[in-house]
Amino acid sequence: MLVNGRNYKSIWREEDSGAVKIIDQRWLPHKFSIVNITSCQETMTAIRDMWVRGAPLIGVTAAYGMAMAMQEDASDENLISAGKFLNSARPTAINLAWAVERMQENLKGTSEEMRAGASLELADLMAEEDIEINRRIGEHGAKIIEDIFLRKSNGDPVRILTHCNAGWLATVDRGTATAPIYEASENKVPIEVWVDETRPRNQGAALTTWELMHNQIPHTLIVDNAGGHLMQRGLVDLCIVGSDRTTSTGDVCNKIGTYLKALAAKDNNIPFYVALPSSTIDENLNDGISEIPIENRGPHEVTHIQGKKENGELIDVQICPDGVEASNPAFDVTPKRLVTGLITENGIK
Ligand code: MRU
Repeated sequence: MLVNGRNYKSIWREEDSGAVKIIDQRWLPHKFSIVNITSCQETMTAIRDMWVRGAPLIGVTAAYGMAMAMQEDASDENLISAGKFLNSARPTAINLAWAVERMQENLKGTSEEMRAGASLELADLMAEEDIEINRRIGEHGAKIIEDIFLRKSNGDPVRILTHCNAGWLATVDRGTATAPIYEASENKVPIEVWVDETRPRNQGAALTTWELMHNQIPHTLIVDNAGGHLMQRGLVDLCIVGSDRTTSTGDVCNKIGTYLKALAAKDNNIPFYVALPSSTIDENLNDGISEIPIENRGPHEVTHIQGKKENGELIDVQICPDGVEASNPAFDVTPKRLVTGLITENGIK
C-alpha cells in the first residue's frame, strides 16, 4: 500500500542484495524506519519485541527466520531447534507455528545442500500468497460493505469500526480487516472508518490511522471506550476486526478489547465480522476461552505511553503512580455467538 505516494510491503527481499527488509513498526507513525533482518536470532527478536507484529506478518517473518537459520546451519537438528526458538517469540498468533511447521515439513524432504536456497524460495512464496489471500478476503468482504451501502440508500458513507491494526502493516500487504475497506473504496463505495486507539500499545492510533491516511480512506480516531456509545447512536454500520487465532468452532482470539466491541455490537444489532486467512484457524482447538494461550506482556506498556514531543523527540511518559501494579493480557476471546461471520480467502463462513 502507499506511503507518501510510494508502494510498500511490510516485508520484502531487496532485488540486488537479497536482504530481507522490514518496516520497524515500533516507531510509527512518527518515524518511518526500514531495517534489515539478517539472522534467525534477529528475526526472533523482531517478532518478540514487535518490530513486526500482526498474525499474518509474524508468520511470514518467521518463514524468513527459518530461511536464515538454514543459511547458518542446514542440519536436521537446526531445522528443529530454529523452529522451536522462533515459536517461543510470541504465543498467541497461530500463524507463527503454522509458518514454522510449513517450512519444516517442506524442508524435511530436501537435502541439506539444497535447504538454504529452497527455504528462501518458500518464504518468498508464502509472502506472495499472503498478498493474494488478502486480495481475496477484500473481494468477499467488499460485498458486505456494498450491500450495506445499497440498503442505506441515501448515499451516506458506510461507517465501519475496526480495532487494533489488522491493516497492511499486520500482513504483507492490504491487510485482512482493511482489505474489504480498500476494495469497496476502489469500487467507489463511500466509507468512513472509526479507528479505536487500542491501548496499551495503541496500534489503532499509531498504525491504522497512518495507513488509512496515506491511502486516502476517511477515518476518525476514537478512544477505546467510545465504540459502544457510537453504536447506540446509530453511527456504526458494521465492525470488521482481524484475528490472531480462531478455533475450528469459530471462537475468535484477537487484540484485547475485541470482546467488548463484539458485545456492544450484539446489543445494538450491528454486524460483527472477522477477516482472517484460513492459516489463522487452529483446527486442533474447539474452545477458545480455555484453550487459546493468551500472551501476557510486561507492565511498562500499561503504566507508560509513547508519544512525540513538539520538538519531534519520541518519549515515554508514565501515566500512573510510581510502583503501581499493572497487568497486561494482550488478547481476548470473542465467542462464536457474537460473531456474524468469518471473511476468509475462500468466502464467508
Ligand atoms: O499484538 P499485535 O499488534 O501483534 O496484535 C495484532 C492483532 O491483534 C491483529 O488484530 C491480528 O493479528 C490480526 S492482523 C491481520
